[in-house]
Amino acid sequence: EKIQAFRKALLDWYDKEKRDLPWRRTSDPYSIWVSEIMLQQTRVDTVIPYYHNFLDKFPDIAALAAAPEDAILKAWEGLGYYSRVKNMQKAAQQIVADYNGVFPKNPQEIAKLKGIGPYTAGAVSSIAFQIPEPAVDGNVMRVMSRLFEIDADIAKPASRKIFEAVVRELIDPERPGDFNQALMDLGSSICSPLNPQPEISPIKAFNAAYKNGTMHLYPVKSKA
Ligand code: ADE
Repeated sequence: EKIQAFRKALLDWYDKEKRDLPWRRTSDPYSIWVSEIMLQQTRVDTVIPYYHNFLDKFPDIAALAAAPEDAILKAWEGLGYYSRVKNMQKAAQQIVADYNGVFPKNPQEIAKLKGIGPYTAGAVSSIAFQIPEPAVDGNVMRVMSRLFEIDADIAKPASRKIFEAVVRELIDPERPGDFNQALMDLGSSICSPLNPQPEISPIKAFNAAYKNGTMHLYPVKSKA
């Protein structure tokens, strides 16, 4: 069936081409959470040394929850957007208080933690716990908009739900974390904003915009 073929094409490509990133060598939800928070506003190459240093200093949820604020800010120095790490510490304290220090598995519980929005909740649920939740960021919206000629304006916050519904249908229930990360990798390489290369895409057979010659119209993104 078509969805199965799509999953296989995407995951076979990921298995061959995936970037070897430190947070892809662990299933520890805390480590994966740290990586996703860092990656929100910061490039992969910049994040890598910060990721290692942060986990050396604060190896688990209890350590982060108990750390002095100046120590966590120091470990974040250079990454910017310091509310990210302050919220992460508040969430760690929430996890200690409400879940005995064990990262919750339920996506709805994860989404309630301070600083964790729908994207991060989906990323941690799928990558750490293999729960088939979408993790939709700008890259994934671009990929989906081209694949299915989706006209929703990706600059509008309300559009994320439309793309989440699409990914929910497609996501591989056996490898949801790899599926989401394959979309991220595709969106940051072959399906880039400025220099897309649909001809070499592992999923070009499924790409409606490419087939119809409408690639230049997607994603729809308003300015204001
Ligand atoms: N950007 C955000 N999350 C990522 C991940 N898990 N791998 C690569 N890039 C990412």
